[in-house]
Amino acid sequence: MSTCRICRGPVYQFFDFGQQPISDAFRKPEDTSEEFFFHMAIGVCQQCTMVQLMSEVPREKMFHEEYAYHSSTSARMQEHFAGTALRLLETECRDVADPLVVELGCNDGIMLRTVAERGVRHLGVDPSANVAEVAASKGVRVRVAFFEESVAKEIRASEGPAQVIYAANTVCHIPYLDSIFRGVDALLSPTGVFVFEDPYLGDIVERASFDQIYDEHFYLFSATSVQAAARQFGFDLVDVERLPTHGGEIRYTIGRPEHRRPTERVAELIAEERERGIDTLATLEQWGTEVKRNCGDLVTLLRKLKDEGATVYAYGATAKSATVTNYAGIGPDLVAGVFDSTPGKQHRLTPGAHLPVRPLEEFTTPYPDYLLLFAWNHAEEIIKREQAFREQGGKWILYVPDVHLL
Ligand code: SAM
Ligand code: TMP
Ligand code: ZN
Repeated sequence: MSTCRICRGPVYQFFDFGQQPISDAFRKPEDTSEEFFFHMAIGVCQQCTMVQLMSEVPREKMFHEEYAYHSSTSARMQEHFAGTALRLLETECRDVADPLVVELGCNDGIMLRTVAERGVRHLGVDPSANVAEVAASKGVRVRVAFFEESVAKEIRASEGPAQVIYAANTVCHIPYLDSIFRGVDALLSPTGVFVFEDPYLGDIVERASFDQIYDEHFYLFSATSVQAAARQFGFDLVDVERLPTHGGEIRYTIGRPEHRRPTERVAELIAEERERGIDTLATLEQWGTEVKRNCGDLVTLLRKLKDEGATVYAYGATAKSATVTNYAGIGPDLVAGVFDSTPGKQHRLTPGAHLPVRPLEEFTTPYPDYLLLFAWNHAEEIIKREQAFREQGGKWILYVPDVHLL
C-alpha cells in the first residue's frame, strides 16, 4: 500500500510489472555503465479513485537534454495538434485582447507552432532542452524548465495572465500535481481554461493496453479522478472530450467554478465510469489477469515463430514497448531489432531489453516475415504507409486488445 499523491488516501496495488528501466533511455551499444531500473507497480486510491504508480522515478532521470521522444514523427499527430491549436484560438482567445497561450510539455513545438504562426502570444515550458531547441527553430518561444508553482508565478509576473494553459501527454507524467494546480491558479486568468489530454483509464481497461503504464505515465486519469483532483484545488472539471489519439484519450477542460459551468458530458461520462466500474479493485485485478494472458500468448507466438525459422522485427521503438519487452521477457533472441524514424533512437539499444534500433530507411525488401507493432497507437498511419510489406506476404503482430495477426 502507498499514499495517494493527490488526496493522501490509501492506494492499493493491483499489478506488479517487476523491474523496469527508463522507457526513453536508449543506450549506445558501447555503453557499459550500469543501467537504471526501478520497481514498477500500479495501484488505485480507495478515496479519490486516482490510478497511480506505487513509486516515483526522479524527474531529471526522464526529462533532460537527451530526451528521445520527438512528437512530430507522426503526420497524424501533427494534424491533430494543428487542429487543436486552431480550435483553442477560436473558442478561447477570439474575444480576448492580446491573449496568452501557455503549453506544458510543448516538446518540438508540434502544437505551439500553429499558435506562433497566427501571431498569438505564447510560451512553451519544457525541461527537455533538445526538443525545446527544435521548437525554438520553428519560431516557438520556449522556457526550458519543469512547470511547477514557482515557475508559473514567474511567468505570471513577466507575461501576465494566461487565457489558455494547455498540455498533451504531459500532465499524467507529473506526480506533483498539487504544485501544477497551484501554478495554474497563479497563472490562469479568471475566465481562462486549463486543458489537458492524456490516455484514458476507460480505454486502457477495455483494451488491456498495459503498455500505457511506464515510468513517465505516473497517472492514468478518468473523468471521476480528474474531477476529484480539480475540486481539491479549487477548480472544477467543466468539459470532457474523448479522443482517438494514442489508443484512446480524454481532453479535460478545467475552469474556475465561479466562471465556468460543467457541460452535461461531464456528468454523463462520470455516470458511465461508475456503471462500468473502471476504477474498482475487482475490475483492475481482472484486467491484470487479461494482461498476463496476453503477454503469455505473445511470448508463445514469438517462440513458435523462432522455432519455425521466421524473421521477426518490431516497428516503432516506443516508450510503451519498454513495458512489453521487460515484463514479458522479449529480447533480441525473439525480436531481431526495431525499426524507428527517430534519429536519436537509431543505432542504440532499447531500454532494458536491448533490441537494436534500426533506421526506418533500412526497412526495405527483402522484408522480415513478421513485424511486431509496438506503435499500435499509430497503426492506421503506419500500416497504410507500409502496405508493400503486407502485399509481399508480411504479417503484422498486434497484442492490443489481444494477440492477433494482420
Ligand atoms: N505534448 C507533446 C505530445 O503530446 O506529443 C509531448 C509529450 S511528451 C510524451 C512529454 C513532454 O513533457 C516531454 O517533452 C517532457 O520534457 C515534458 N515534461 C515533463 N515534465 C514536465 C513539466 N513538469 N513541465 C513541463 N513539461 C514537462
Ligand atoms: P509514441 O507511440 O509514443 O507516439 O511513439 C511512436 C514511436 O514510433 C516513435 O519512436 C516514432 C516511431 N514512429 C515511426 O518510426 N514511424 C512512424 O510512422 C510513426 C508514426 C512513429
Ligand atoms: Zn486519492
